[in-house]
Amino acid sequence: MLRQEVSLDGKDVPYLYGVDVTEELVGALADLAATADLVLLVTDRAVAVHAEPVARGLAEAVRVALFTVDAGEQRKTLSLVEDIVEFAVRQGASRSTVVVAMGGGMVGNVAGLAAGLLFRGVRLVHLPTTPIAAFDSVLSVKQAVNLSGGKNLCGTYHVPSLIACDLRWLTSVPRGLMLTGLAEMAKNVLAVVPDRRHALEQALGRLADEPAAALLELLDIGRDAKAPYLRSDPRERREALVFEYGHTMGHALEFVSRGGIGHGEAIAWGMLVAAEVSHDLGHLGHDGLALHRQVVGRLRLPPAAAGPGGLDRERIRAVLARDNKRGYLPCAPDEVPMVLLESAGRVVTGDRGLPLVPVPVDLVMSALGTVVGAAPGPTLVEAGPARERLGAV
Ligand SMILES: NC(=O)c1ccc[n+]([C@@H]2O[C@H](COP(=O)([O-])OP(=O)(O)OC[C@H]3O[C@@H](n4cnc5c(N)ncnc54)[C@H](O)[C@@H]3O)[C@@H](O)[C@H]2O)c1
Repeated sequence: MLRQEVSLDGKDVPYLYGVDVTEELVGALADLAATADLVLLVTDRAVAVHAEPVARGLAEAVRVALFTVDAGEQRKTLSLVEDIVEFAVRQGASRSTVVVAMGGGMVGNVAGLAAGLLFRGVRLVHLPTTPIAAFDSVLSVKQAVNLSGGKNLCGTYHVPSLIACDLRWLTSVPRGLMLTGLAEMAKNVLAVVPDRRHALEQALGRLADEPAAALLELLDIGRDAKAPYLRSDPRERREALVFEYGHTMGHALEFVSRGGIGHGEAIAWGMLVAAEVSHDLGHLGHDGLALHRQVVGRLRLPPAAAGPGGLDRERIRAVLARDNKRGYLPCAPDEVPMVLLESAGRVVTGDRGLPLVPVPVDLVMSALGTVVGAAPGPTLVEAGPARERLGAV
C-alpha cells in the first residue's frame, strides 16, 4: 500500500492507495474509526461488490450502518442529503460518527455535504471508485449538490480525514465511462501540466492491458497537477479556478441532458467549446486548437448526435446564465465567466487577477455550434423537451 499526504484546506490528509490493498485500507479505516460510535457507509449500488468486503471488515471493529444510493446526476440533491442525515440520526449517530463515502464523484459530493452538515461537521472518509473521483474530485474540499436551476449551486467546504483507494475498484467501471472519466485528466494536461501529455497518452494506451500500472500513473498526474494549487488556493476561489476549464459549457450540457451526458464526457465537450472561444477571442492559436482535438480525441467521445447535438439551446443558455462562477468578477447578464487559454498550460488572466474572462453567451453558443458541426451528427435543436438518458457511456 502506498501513502501520500495531500494538502487540503491547510491540512495534510493521507491518501492511501494501491492495487488489491482493500484489507490494508480497511485496517487504516478501522484505526481512524476506533473512537467512533458509528460508521455511516454511504455507497453506490453499482459498487456493492467492492463495498461488501469493506463493510464486513469494518464491522469487526465498529458499528456500521449502510446507506445505499443509486448514483445519477438527477439524484445529486439536497433531499438526498437530508435522507442521509435523517438516516444517520435514526441510527444513533453522534459527533464521533465517521461518514464514509464509497463510490464516484456523485456519492462523494452527497456524502461529503452530509458529513459537513451533520452536527455542523463530522469526520469524512473518501473511498473513490471512478477515475473522476479517485484522480480529481477527492482532491478538493468542495461538496455541492444541484438545485433545479443548475449544477453544484448549493454546498459547502468539508475536508476529509482520510482518502483511500484500491485501484482494483476502478477496473469494474465500463470502458466508455473510464475513458470519458479521464476528461478531467485531459483538462489538467491541457490547462495546467502540458508536459505530462505523453504520460497521459501512455497511460491511456496501457489501460486495457496493464490497468494497474496505468491507473497508478493517472493518479500521479491528477495529484501532481492539483497539489500546488491546493496548497496556495485550497478553496479554489483564485488561481485554482483554472480547474474549472471546460466546466462552463460542460456543466450546462451535463445538467440539461439530466445526466445523459456523463460528467467526463460533458467536460470534454466543454473543453472543445472553451478552446473555440479562446481561439475566437484571439487568445489561442491553431496549434492549441489542434492539440485540444488530439488530446480530447483520445477519450473516444460518442458522436455529437449522441452528445450535445440533440440538446435544447434555450435550456443550455438558461443554465449558463446561472453558472456557479458568476459573482467572482463583474459580468453582464448576457455574459458568462469562463476559463480561457492562451496556449496549453497558460491561462488568460482577467479582472482581479483571476483566471476568468466574461464571455458573451452568444459567442459561447456559437462555439458550441462549431464544435457540434465539426463532429458527425445533427445540429442543435432550437427548442423542445430535454433529451432523455442516452446510456451513451
Ligand atoms: N470538486 C468536486 O467536488 C468535483 C470534481 C469533479 C467532479 N465532481 C462531481 O462528480 C460527479 C461525476 O463523477 P463520476 O463520474 O464519478 O460520477 P458518478 O458518481 O455518478 O459515477 C458514474 C457512474 O459510474 C457508476 N460507478 C461508480 N463506480 C463504479 C465502479 N467501480 N464500477 C462500475 N460502475 C461504477 C455509478 O453508479 C454511475 O452510474 C459529478 O456530479 C461532478 O459534479 C465533483
